[in-house]
Amino acid sequence: MKRIAVVASGRGSNFQAVIDAIRNGKVPAECAALITDNPKAYALERARKAGVPCRIIDYAAFPSREVYERALLATMQEANADLFVLAGYMRILGASIVMAFPGKIINIHPALLPCFTGLHAQRQAVQHGVKVAGCTVHFVDESLDGGPIILQKCVPVLDSDDEDALAERILSHEHQCLPESIRLFCEDRLVIEGRKVRII
Ligand code: GAR
Repeated sequence: MKRIAVVASGRGSNFQAVIDAIRNGKVPAECAALITDNPKAYALERARKAGVPCRIIDYAAFPSREVYERALLATMQEANADLFVLAGYMRILGASIVMAFPGKIINIHPALLPCFTGLHAQRQAVQHGVKVAGCTVHFVDESLDGGPIILQKCVPVLDSDDEDALAERILSHEHQCLPESIRLFCEDRLVIEGRKVRII
């Protein structure tokens, strides 16, 4: 059974979807740790309820981003996970961390990448007037939301949508897409070939 560690900054609804999918036998994995940069993250509450060990690396307590990243890297190494899942981690992972775990970090993003990278992807989609939005799970490389794509789900944008309404509809698809991607990883069914991921 693969060991996964989830890295989250906030509410943690995607983390919850992963916990539930493991509990229901849909994902053959053990959730070995929740790592957060935010001591107030609601994800911590979810971890405690589910009995998942928590590691808090409080970004605000470090003198610089470099020192924070060193502590995060050490914590990730200690977690000894086969896969790190960024589920609402609202910072950019530094190159030293990405290079330490090649092909072992995935991220969920609330847009159909490569459109609308970075923060507030749903707001960008509404402002741009796209008719189709969605979510993407991808491997993390050194680019911003640019690593090889594992799965995507489409979500129609309605004329009545504001950022919040669209975000909520995308989120329900994220809760399917992320556990499904983790399942494929845990079943050794993801093969990275250059920029592409082949599902076998
Ligand atoms: C999710 O919509 C996730 O895709 C997004 O933050 C939200 C976290 O929700 N992530 C990003 O925007 C990363 N760039 P959650 O804490 O309830 O899982």
